[in-house]
Amino acid sequence: MMYIIDTANLDQIRKCVEFYPIAGVTTNPTIISRENTDFVKLIKDIRDIIGPDLMLHVQVTASKADDIVKEALLLKEAVGGNFYVKIPISQEGLKATSILHNMGMKVTETAIFTQQQALIAALAGADFVAPYVNRLDNIVSDGVQVVSEIVDMFKAHDIKTKVLAASFKTVEQIHKIAMSGCHSVTINPELFETLTYHPMTQYAIDDFNADWESVYGRKSIAQIFEGK
Ligand code: E4P
Repeated sequence: MMYIIDTANLDQIRKCVEFYPIAGVTTNPTIISRENTDFVKLIKDIRDIIGPDLMLHVQVTASKADDIVKEALLLKEAVGGNFYVKIPISQEGLKATSILHNMGMKVTETAIFTQQQALIAALAGADFVAPYVNRLDNIVSDGVQVVSEIVDMFKAHDIKTKVLAASFKTVEQIHKIAMSGCHSVTINPELFETLTYHPMTQYAIDDFNADWESVYGRKSIAQIFEGK
């Protein structure tokens, strides 16, 4: 499974790239507008930080197919590398998805709330579909179930489109999505940190350190080898 981070904050991206095995960065207009800065410079800076190989997903704002295609090409030209254009699903979005797919562009169909939306987006040529787990839970649906059914449906029909589950608020949602066989998740950096933290882990590390120091003082293993 791939972990992707859902942010346009450069400091957070730098930190995640340094410490975590992330596969890329996703953004949307809300995430971009939070940074309140020069849009083109921002997405180029993200590319510079993550390098050409990690995925960068940037969303269009146009709603007509021709304009979506135009924005997709401009975005791809600006950021280059492993780029995915995010297109919210709609009639025009599906038309643009087919056009871009036939041009060899990689597309992430986003704002997916139903299994059938995901299937149709996949058939239009989307490389990823992004169902919104927490937003489904918030409308008393079941985000994990919707994602599981999309994953199963793609398997049953031998569809190569990957599922990029998005919109998370809890570690439990992410864990259940991982158990469903979903290909990837995009999560914000704060939630990412809670995936790796556990108080019992910290307790164990503190214990190891105290026991080591009781015999070797503050000497590290490297200092012992170096005879310091
Ligand atoms: C990512 O593709 C989505 O735009 C994002 O995860 C939505 O998350 P939210 O529901 O927390 O806004």
